Amino acid sequence: MFEEAQLYSPVSHHDDGTVEVHLGANHPGFNDPDYRARRNAIAARAVAWQPGEPLPRIDYTEGETAIWRQVSHELADKHRRRAHPEYLAAKERLGLPTEQIPQLDEVSAALTGLTGFSYVAAPGLVELREFYSSLGDRVFHSTQYVRHPSEPLYTPEPDVIHEVLGHGNQLASPRFAALTQAAGAAVARAERDETVQVIADIFWFTMEFGVMFDGPDLKAYGAGILSSYGEMDEFSHMEIRPLDLVQMATLNYDITSYQPILFAAESVGHLEDVVGTFFAACDDEVPERMLAAA
Ligand SMILES: [Fe+2]
Repeated sequence: MFEEAQLYSPVSHHDDGTVEVHLGANHPGFNDPDYRARRNAIAARAVAWQPGEPLPRIDYTEGETAIWRQVSHELADKHRRRAHPEYLAAKERLGLPTEQIPQLDEVSAALTGLTGFSYVAAPGLVELREFYSSLGDRVFHSTQYVRHPSEPLYTPEPDVIHEVLGHGNQLASPRFAALTQAAGAAVARAERDETVQVIADIFWFTMEFGVMFDGPDLKAYGAGILSSYGEMDEFSHMEIRPLDLVQMATLNYDITSYQPILFAAESVGHLEDVVGTFFAACDDEVPERMLAAA
């Protein structure tokens, strides 16, 4: 079972108006006061933001920009070789900059023109139901901070690189956008928390960590793999299983390291048939049926 909250550092608001991001003791930025201050300042912008206002624009530092540049360049080659063509075509259409970090309003405007998705700013964790229900309206809650410079390869926390290079490029595909919206709409219909969890778990193994065949070659289409250049090297060596809704909904997994078991779709159409159909039909009877089948 997957608990989204584990991914995020909690954010609290103090009476004096300041915002604090609580990094765990094992976070690479835990002992870095400048990084912590920066995280607090960026989170405060999202906390202060109100719907209808222009999205916060972050004045990214040279160091933050350098991380984006490094990851963008490292990923460009790995994407060419190991990303699924559906993602590559979407990435090409969105045309994100590699030399500077795009502002969320720019990402949002470009995506809206392609698939109707827009971005809003999130300080950190967005409650599971709210996060997914917004996807049902084609609205994506995105953080704006950058991972700690000591670990550019991988972050279990979703930073702007994950949200934009991973999900933004993915959501520029009309087919992936439709699957994402369907997951969100399924959560919006669900009354039971168990149903929401099943949808979130299946989303995790598909839109976050999904792989897909392109002819004989296994390629990545999940935003979590595509935004992690360490994982781009590793995913084809993992245990690959065929798409299986019950297994995806019941397998235990650890979010803090590379995923050892991945589920492969035969094609985008196969993913739509199995997972898209599931999201479209999912109701509150589903958790019992899945447990009975497990
Ligand atoms: Fe994600």
